[in-house]
Amino acid sequence: MKKKVVSLLTVAALSMSMLAGCGNKAADTAKDAAETAESAVEEGAEAVADAVEETGTEVANAVSGDLADKKVGVCIYQFSDNFMTLFRNELQNYLVAQGFNADNITIVDGANDQATQTNQIQNFITSGVDVLIINPVNSSSAATITDLVVGANIPLVYINREPDADEEQRWEDNGWNVCYVGCDARQSGTYQGEIIVDLGLDTVDLNKDGKIQYIMIEGDPENVDAQYRTEFSVKALEDAGLEVECLDDEVGNWDQATAQQLVANALSAHPETEVVFCNNDAMALGALQSIQAANRTVGTDIYLVGVDALSEALEDVIAGTMTGTVFNDHFSQSHSAADAAINFLNGQTNDRYIGCDYVKVTADNAQEILDSVK
Ligand code: GAL
Repeated sequence: MKKKVVSLLTVAALSMSMLAGCGNKAADTAKDAAETAESAVEEGAEAVADAVEETGTEVANAVSGDLADKKVGVCIYQFSDNFMTLFRNELQNYLVAQGFNADNITIVDGANDQATQTNQIQNFITSGVDVLIINPVNSSSAATITDLVVGANIPLVYINREPDADEEQRWEDNGWNVCYVGCDARQSGTYQGEIIVDLGLDTVDLNKDGKIQYIMIEGDPENVDAQYRTEFSVKALEDAGLEVECLDDEVGNWDQATAQQLVANALSAHPETEVVFCNNDAMALGALQSIQAANRTVGTDIYLVGVDALSEALEDVIAGTMTGTVFNDHFSQSHSAADAAINFLNGQTNDRYIGCDYVKVTADNAQEILDSVK
């Protein structure tokens, strides 16, 4: 497996901007929590001292333990998701490379159903796993999941679907061993928009009406990745001074076949479509099938962008049948998630948000990215 080519230089900046974005609410929560913590200390100084002593003993035990003996539970929201398949395979490989025993790593399919996943988490707790890595079905269920896992004294690393700012603040305020690993989806949306902006209005404005007519195919609407990619791709066009017209905006749930159908309908209702934005590559691949079925040609009479840099999409970018995509670095994210789990097992703490950079992909660098992911 070749190493990824991408540097993570702007991670700190991204993390800062995410924190800045959740400003006042977070500050209020922090203030309340600080007051609660203060009175708790006053009321139970002795109990706290006992707890610290106990934790110290646990940490010492953990540090002396061997990773090969540690049990890891991994919950994936849905195995059939293309990107999360790359993520979980790399996570499994990397955990083994770090010294975990493959027999002690259990990865389960939430089948896109929160009740199923919550049961799986309960089963992991009963079976006595040492650490959990969770890609929640619903980010809004994070508080319930956290309470379950923290209540069982198990460290928890969330991946891919970010819980909200209040929930993350709770981890910090309580000093819980919980963190999140993921990328800032605003960056991926912005890159999608910039790929279109860089082509120039003259090229993209096929009907020469001074506007960019687009259709948007969204992932799961509860997911912040879908929300931000939808918003920031269009914002990048507007920020560049382009006028935009949304012809259709549909939910494709990250799924190729769903997107294929949606784009077929949208193109027949709106033949004037100039750009198809898809929140991920699986849906862009479905869009491409419908674009071709409608006898349209990407790069000539329509433009198409996705996110993830799936190998198939990269081949399309190289061939010119997709305008561009954005590399969603599953190597960096899965490695950071495993490293965070190891830190917790070693009695160390993690930042509550561990970021990762996206990379803009066009015909100029698609081969390089393809070589790096193979
Ligand atoms: C996104 C990814 C999508 C899908 C989604 C699942 O980051 O781009 O393809 O995997 O996560 O939450």
